[in-house]
Amino acid sequence: MNKKIAVIGAGNVGASTAMYLAEANFADVVMVDIIEGVPQGKGLDLTQAGPVRGYNAKIYGTNKFTDIKGADIVIMTAGLPRKPGMSREDLLNMNADIVGSVAKKIKQHAPQSFVIVVSNPLDLMTFHMQKVTGFPKNRVCGQAGVLDSTRFRAFVSMELDVAMTDIQAMVLGGHGDTMVPLPRYTTVAGIPIGELIAKDRIKAISQRTAVGGGEIVKLLKTGSAYYAPAAATVDMCRAIFNDEKKLLPASAYLTGEYGIKDIYIGVPVVLGAKGVERIIELKLTKAELTALQGSAKTYKEHLKILGY
Ligand code: APR
Repeated sequence: MNKKIAVIGAGNVGASTAMYLAEANFADVVMVDIIEGVPQGKGLDLTQAGPVRGYNAKIYGTNKFTDIKGADIVIMTAGLPRKPGMSREDLLNMNADIVGSVAKKIKQHAPQSFVIVVSNPLDLMTFHMQKVTGFPKNRVCGQAGVLDSTRFRAFVSMELDVAMTDIQAMVLGGHGDTMVPLPRYTTVAGIPIGELIAKDRIKAISQRTAVGGGEIVKLLKTGSAYYAPAAATVDMCRAIFNDEKKLLPASAYLTGEYGIKDIYIGVPVVLGAKGVERIIELKLTKAELTALQGSAKTYKEHLKILGY
């Protein structure tokens, strides 16, 4: 294949992303991890699944960052996952060190790549990645909104017992408890959910979405979600490779949109061959805008801890 994707981190999110990428069959995949043997073993295992699953993508694991050379997209999943009782912000300093060191390697070995950050706390790590690589802002974004909205979609489907694929949803804001689900922009085959679901149930579903990651952390006890985060990330890679101009929520750098600037946060973007090609400014209600700006304010405070 001509296209190459580097996945940094061969843990739960990294390996699941590599698996979905292999199945998507649109690029070769290299997984990089610091643990000796693990990326190599998972790469070999995934390669051996190829004949049965019907993919031809070359997929391998390594401990050498030089192997990301030539990657069109780098997906950053390295970092510590949350444990029960930890907020995404608790991970801040620990994961900032990891993201900073990996960012320098990306800058050195894959200077033309697009970077999709998945490591948490997502919006802050995406900001840090962009600052350390110095890449243009359209080439660095964070995967959060696709995950948050796919969670919303799944919950709506469970509520109504209708096909998940018929549901479109929009979730804005930081990837955390301050996220802003937008039921007004959520539909089932074009029908606003307000016409199908009672108000109190919509509120409950929105709330469950906002703490959707935490629900899984509590169940797993030893880590955080990985299948849905991985699937969401692959959707973004496809949009870039196929120049789909796909409108989806992602963590993007704002320069005054929604009255917010100099911060990465979840907003609707158009994702295509140039990465984040546009940011879409929706008309929000006062309450929605206040929630989004509140989310941004929290992140600005957290950025100070990182010295920004
Ligand atoms: N370079 C490469 N890999 C690293 C580095 C580094 N500097 N530091 C840690 N890693 C690797 C670990 O060795 C581990 O294999 O990152 C991997 C993380 O895997 P898991 O512990 O399974 O964590 P995971 O569930 O994949 O979550 C990773 O994604 O969703 C977020 O909050 C989550 O920040 C977390 C990240």
